[in-house]
Amino acid sequence: MVSLKLFGALASLLCSGLSLVAANSFAGASSYFLYTLQQSDRLAVLDAMQAAGLKTLRIFVTEVAENIKGCTNSAVNDVEVGSPGQWDDTILNMINTLISEAMPRGIKLIIAPHDRYALGCWQSDVYVSKYKIPTSNCATAPNNASIFYLNSNAIADYDKRLQHILAFKYSDGTPWSQLSNGIFAFNIENEAMGHMNMVDNQWWCHRSGTIRNALGSSSIYVSTGGGADWSDSLNYYNFYCTDIDIIDIHSYDGTSAINSNMPGAINTAKQQGKLLMMEEWGVTGSDSDKASGMTSQINALNGYGIPWSLWEVVKPSSTDFETFTDETQAWAAIKTGAAKADSAAGAFTFKNLP
Ligand SMILES: *[C@@H]1O[C@H](CO)[C@@H](O)[C@H](O)[C@H]1NC(C)=O
Repeated sequence: MVSLKLFGALASLLCSGLSLVAANSFAGASSYFLYTLQQSDRLAVLDAMQAAGLKTLRIFVTEVAENIKGCTNSAVNDVEVGSPGQWDDTILNMINTLISEAMPRGIKLIIAPHDRYALGCWQSDVYVSKYKIPTSNCATAPNNASIFYLNSNAIADYDKRLQHILAFKYSDGTPWSQLSNGIFAFNIENEAMGHMNMVDNQWWCHRSGTIRNALGSSSIYVSTGGGADWSDSLNYYNFYCTDIDIIDIHSYDGTSAINSNMPGAINTAKQQGKLLMMEEWGVTGSDSDKASGMTSQINALNGYGIPWSLWEVVKPSSTDFETFTDETQAWAAIKTGAAKADSAAGAFTFKNLP
C-alpha cells in the first residue's frame, strides 16, 4: 500500500507541478453516539475502525437516551438543557474522552454540533420549547422547523451554541477550535432544513462565518453537515460561500444517484475551490445485502476519488444501517473499500487527515 500511495502522490505532484500536497481520498464512518457506549464497546468500535483503515469518526452533539439501537450505552443530556444558553457540559466531557481514545488510533472526529432532527422531529430540544416549533412524528411527516432558521433570536442562540462548543477545552487545555490533532471538521448542523422547505438557503453560509471566526487559522475544516438528499446537499449558495471548506453530501439513493450527480458536483466544487465528501450513505438488510450494496457505492465513490463516511458503525450491528465486525461480509467490504480509498486518485486535496 505504501509504495502505491507514494507512486500516486509523486505522479500527482508531477502532473500538477503546483500543489505541495497530492490529491487524495480516505474513508471514515459515523457512530453518532459512540461517546455514550460503555468503554469496552467503545474501544472495540475504535479498534475495529482503526484495523479497517477508517480515519474519520462522525458524531453528533445531541441528547442520547439509554440503550438505544440494541447498544449498552448511557443516557446523556444535550449540551443545552432547559433553555438555550443553559449549558450542561457532560456530553462535551464524554466527547473529550472519546477524542483521547480516537487520537492514538489515528482517527479524527467530525463533529456535528446540532441535529436538525432534534428540532421536534425525532427528538425535541430546547429550541423547540423556546421557539414553539411545531413537532411531528418524523417517521410519517417531518415537521416544519422554519422558525429555527428564520427567527433572529433563534439564530443568535444557535451561534452561541456553536461558539460554546468550539471554545470547549480538551483535557490539555486546548480549545476544540484549535484541536486539529483530534478534530478533522466541524459540521454547521446535521442536515439543516432537512425534509422541509429550504426557507433560507444562505443560512449555512452565515453560520459558517461563526465557526470560521472561532477557528481562526486552525486547519480544522468548516463543513456543511449535508442535506437530507442530493439536492439539499448541493445547495448552490454553499459553493459560493467563502467560509465553507467542505460540501458534505448525504444520500441513501444508491449507486445510480451517485453516478448521475457526482460528476456535476465535482465540476462545480473544483470551479469554486470547494472540497466534496460523501458524508452519509448506508445500506440496510442482511450481511450479504449490505456487502453488495456497500461495495457498489464504495467502488463508485473511490472511482470518483471522493472520500466517504459510512452511516454507521456501532456495536452491536443490526439489520438497519448499523454494522460491525460480526457482519463479516459487510465488514470485509468496508475494509477493502477503505484501503482502495486510501490509494485512490483523489478528486481533491484534503489536509488535516490523521
Ligand atoms: C413553516 O413555518 C413557517 C414559519 O413558522 C411558515 O411561515 C410557513 O408557512 C410554514 N410552511 C409550511 C409549508 O407550512
